[in-house]
This record gives sequence, structure tokens and C-alpha cells, in this order.
Amino acid sequence: MKPSIIDLSQHKEFNEYISKVNALSGEKKLYQYVYTFGCQMNVHESEMIQGILLKCGYEPTQNPESADVIMINTCCIREHAESKILGLLGTLSHFKAKKPELVIGICGCMTQQEEFAKKIKSKFHHVDIILGTNSSQKLPESLYRALTQQESKKRRTLYLDHEDMTICENTPILRAKGVCSWLTVMYGCNNFCTYCIVPYVRGRERSRTPEAILNDARLLVESGTKEITLLGQNVNSYGKELDYSFAKLIKELNKVDGLERIRFMTSHPKDISDELINAFGECDKLCEHLHLPLQSGSSDILSKMNRRYDMDTYRNIVKKLRNVRPDIELSTDLIVGFPGETDDDFKATLDAVNEMQYSFAFSFAYSPRKGTKAAVMEDQIPEPIKKERLNKLIDLQNSISQKISANYVGKTVEILSEGRVGADDEASPSNDPMRQVGRTRTNKKVYFTADNDTNGQLLQARITNSVSVTLGGELLK
Ligand code: 5AD
Ligand code: SF4
Repeated sequence: MKPSIIDLSQHKEFNEYISKVNALSGEKKLYQYVYTFGCQMNVHESEMIQGILLKCGYEPTQNPESADVIMINTCCIREHAESKILGLLGTLSHFKAKKPELVIGICGCMTQQEEFAKKIKSKFHHVDIILGTNSSQKLPESLYRALTQQESKKRRTLYLDHEDMTICENTPILRAKGVCSWLTVMYGCNNFCTYCIVPYVRGRERSRTPEAILNDARLLVESGTKEITLLGQNVNSYGKELDYSFAKLIKELNKVDGLERIRFMTSHPKDISDELINAFGECDKLCEHLHLPLQSGSSDILSKMNRRYDMDTYRNIVKKLRNVRPDIELSTDLIVGFPGETDDDFKATLDAVNEMQYSFAFSFAYSPRKGTKAAVMEDQIPEPIKKERLNKLIDLQNSISQKISANYVGKTVEILSEGRVGADDEASPSNDPMRQVGRTRTNKKVYFTADNDTNGQLLQARITNSVSVTLGGELLK
């Protein structure tokens, strides 16, 4: 089934409500703050929420307490994310007590679950706007209602779009970084891995047209983007309903003048084609890094997870990739403590990590998600065992990551500078105005100092030291 496209630049209601909200504020300066939980897809969707709010007249602020509208873009992939969001809702009720005109909204994966959305509506009266994953076109209208219907029941809105075959084009976007940009190629997931909630809250797979994507890529490059990361829950099945392939899309993007680097995520191993593997050898802009979630090193567990590949298939993919591009670095996602995971299954995951030599891994303890098949499987693993396995896995991966990073010392690499590092940098905060950061093609952060702002430049750097997964370097003239 082909998706239906909503062009927001032409959408009468969407644009009328944007004008109405703008008219309400008049000359008054208003501010927005968006909290983001979860994956890169959410980070990018928050850029869209910010883009819509900016059109409505709300400037971004770094300080949530000075905001006039606050949105929480939620994640429900693990229990941990959910409890953090509930905690935040508590904090925001104090903000609203101090500033009653503050508008608070919640959107994303967690709210797309009807049960949860209804709970918010009935128990969290300080939340004005509740939107699901496919309803951001309703944000201006919801905001208008929250602002104009203060005393009425119509103040609070709840929109969950269960028609999951739509794609919004031309959504306003406020991009955090100009040099490296996200670009969504598809929405949804059809895979139903037995542990995963995503297919239930993100709907079925639907691909944007190659024309729309290439057009976005050209516009991004014109506005200063050098690196594009293509996004989708499972980009390897991009284009199936359009009779087009992901590898073909990469090859077309590789021809875009001025674009220097292409990355993508996330890839499902069962859908990676030889054509895509070969693209790593053919496309000079495609970076030598691939995030290829393994989830478990035990073929039995992989089968229970409904991953539809086994260790031999995975091993074969990695072999082919390393044949085509010997310097490619891999990263992965791993889950420990899936129902029925024995000590031997867990050991198979440790063995796989040793064998694959990932430069980085996101490791998780299995978290049962209501409505998924795995949540009702027998032999759920006790939390202390999950924790113990997770710690062992993290220790092993850390030692491998450090070894791979240490191998860079003394080498010269190309980095794409993302400019100055602030005091809020996660890995290496700094108050030195000349301290900057760039990324290698293998997606490693390199910190360096330079006399001028190098943001957006491709530079050669010699690596002088490594700390965990990040590197330090000096620029070569
Ligand atoms: N429990 C733990 N980890 C999960 N992931 C997805 N669902 C769960 C779950 N229920 C992990 C997978 C996936 C990543 C985005 O999150 O490893 O690749
Ligand atoms: Fe979840 Fe599997 Fe889809 Fe990834 S491929 S989003 S893990 S169901």
C-alpha cells in the first residue's frame, strides 16, 4: 500500500492555525523548550516540533523555566525511559503552578499508546496537548486551543492518528547543527521483533520518494550541510513499496555536489543487500562506519526474538563488508536477559562481541513491553541476573572500544569539524573558546584546539591520545 502524502506547506488548517497563534502573541517575545527522549529519530522529530513552534512565533530558549510552551517528545522503548518522563511531568507541574499561562504538551512514542495517552488526560491536568507519533500537523491547532480556551474543556487536546500510512512533507525544521544533518527516508517498522514496541507505536513502513529526499539533500547542502545521516527504523527495506532500493538512493546521493559524507541508521541485518554492501566499495561519500544491531550472539535467542537471521548469516554479512571496505568500523545494539537466555546464550553474546570487534555498542537489559510477544514468554530472567550480565558485557565492550581507539594514536585522519565545544559537551566539556570537535569518517569524536573557528571544514588531524571512545588530536597545516 502506497502512503498518502500530506504537504504541510499547502495544508490549509495547519497554516491557518500558525497565523492565528502568531496573531495572539502580537509583539510579545515568546519562548519554546523541547525535551527529547530516545533515539536519533526522536532527536530529529524534535527539530520538526521546534520548527513548527518557531513558525508559531516561539523562539528557542536554553532555559525551560523561561519558556511559554514546553513539549516533551517521549520514548517508550524501555521502562527506564518511561519512568524518567513521568518524573519530568511531576517537575513541570511546579513550573505551571508558578506560571499558569505556560502551555505543556507531550508527544511521541509513549503517547501513541492509547492507554498511556488516556492516563495523561485523566491524571495530569497540567498537560494541555497530547499528540501521538503521526500528529505533529495538529500542534498549531492544539496550541491555539490551549491559549484561547483557558477555562473551557476544549483547552486540552488529544490526537492519536491510527491511520498509519501517511507521510508529512515540508514540515518546518529547526536544525540544531548546520554541518551534519538528519534526513528521514522512511517511517515505521514491519518487523515485529518480539521484544520491541516500535511497530505498535510507529505504524507500518512507508518510504518518502527518492525525489523528495534528493531535493531535501540538495537544499541542505546549499545551506551548509556537509554530512547527511539518513534515518529510518529499518532503512534497508527503504523503497520496497516504490520499487526502489536503498542502495540506489545512496548511489544517487553520492552524486550530490558539495555533499561530503553520507551515513545511515538503522540497518536490519536480514534486509542488507549485496548491492548495499557493495555500495560501501563504490560510493566515496559513504563513510566507513555501519551500525548493525546484532541483539544477541545466540542463534536460539535470535530466533525467539524473531530477528530472522542467525549468527552464521550475520558473520557472513560482516565478512563481506570487511572484504569490500577493510577499514570499516562497526557498532551495534545488544540485549541481555531476553526471556529464556541461558548462561550459554549469554556467553555466545560475549563471544560474538569478541569476534566482531565493534568500535562501540549500545547494551541494554531486556525490558518487557506490554503488548509485545516477549513480555508474556516464559522464563523471564530475574533483574539481578540481567544486571550482572549487562555489567559484564559493558566491561568487555569498553575494553574493546578502548583498544580500537588507542590504535588511532599516531595516525592521520580526516575530520569534519563541528566547531567549538561548549561547557555542556557530554564527552569533554570546555570553557576554552578555541577547543573544537570534529568526527572521523568512522564516527569517532576528535577534540582539538585551533586559532580560528573551523566549523564545517574538512581537516587533517594527527591523533595524539585516546580516552575511552573519543580521541584527541592536533591539526596538520
Ligand atoms: N528491552 C531492551 N532493549 C530494547 N531495545 C528495543 N526494545 C527493547 C526492549 N524491550 C533495544 C534494541 C534496539 C534498540 C534501539 O533498543 O537493542 O536495537
Ligand atoms: Fe524494533 Fe525490530 Fe523494528 Fe528495530 S527492526 S524497530 S528492533 S521491531
